[in-house]
Amino acid sequence: MNAPDATRPIGVFDSGVGGLTVLKALQAAMPHEHLVYLGDTARLPYGTKSPASIERYACQAAALLRQHDIKMLVVACNTASAVALDALREAMHPLPVIGVVDPGAAAAVAARPGGRHLVLATEATVCLGAYREAILGLDPGATVDELACELLVALAEEGWNEGPVAQDIVRRYLAELAEASRHPDSVILGCTHFPLLRPTFAAVFDDSVAIVDSAGTTAAAARELLRSLDLATEDGAGRLTLLATDGATRFARVGGQFLGHDLSWKDIEIVDL
Ligand code: DGL
Repeated sequence: MNAPDATRPIGVFDSGVGGLTVLKALQAAMPHEHLVYLGDTARLPYGTKSPASIERYACQAAALLRQHDIKMLVVACNTASAVALDALREAMHPLPVIGVVDPGAAAAVAARPGGRHLVLATEATVCLGAYREAILGLDPGATVDELACELLVALAEEGWNEGPVAQDIVRRYLAELAEASRHPDSVILGCTHFPLLRPTFAAVFDDSVAIVDSAGTTAAAARELLRSLDLATEDGAGRLTLLATDGATRFARVGGQFLGHDLSWKDIEIVDL
């Protein structure tokens, strides 16, 4: 039997379709939960914007999701998590708010304790050193290198996830690193767009390198939190509502690749923040 508030949806947002990698993990971990996903496609990318703009965009996205009577907010964007998590928690109080940076850092530390981690992320996430802080907080013996790879967001949005072009671009970015940093124990996909490029990372990095993303650990953390608050839904099939701020056709085409099944533009409702 569900608690009275438990059937309210979970709100999830990203700057675009990248957060669908987290949404997919949430669906797998909590098949009974209703989910409302918002991609702020009109303002993507967030990663090159100033912290003030990212915080404003993130708070506007969260406010729209609140109108859907959500019971929890999952910030499925590393950039917004790195820049605006505190502001979002304050704005959404008393709703629980979960970001993706801490779960991603925990996954990397669990995979390679005491290891050398290479964080691939957006400019804003790297500038703030959010992963460095989270990893060193969990594992002071770890080594953390961070690399801003903004072009990879565009590759994922374009669906160019594998092949020589994607591999060359990743290698070009890696060439900016010192020699030792090019041989990490783990590569953290510190942008929710990057899990789509996994075949490329697998081709570029050695087999011994753990390629880590935050989708699974974020979903597990969200499930535990809902259970602890007695807000988990335990029966019925979860419904999905997809919202975007621009481009339903493009969202459907690229988002379908992220979710692993076809979407139609009719599945996406365009909203204004
Ligand atoms: N998906 C966003 C993230 O996880 C990045 C894309 C963007 O720059 O908007 O950081």
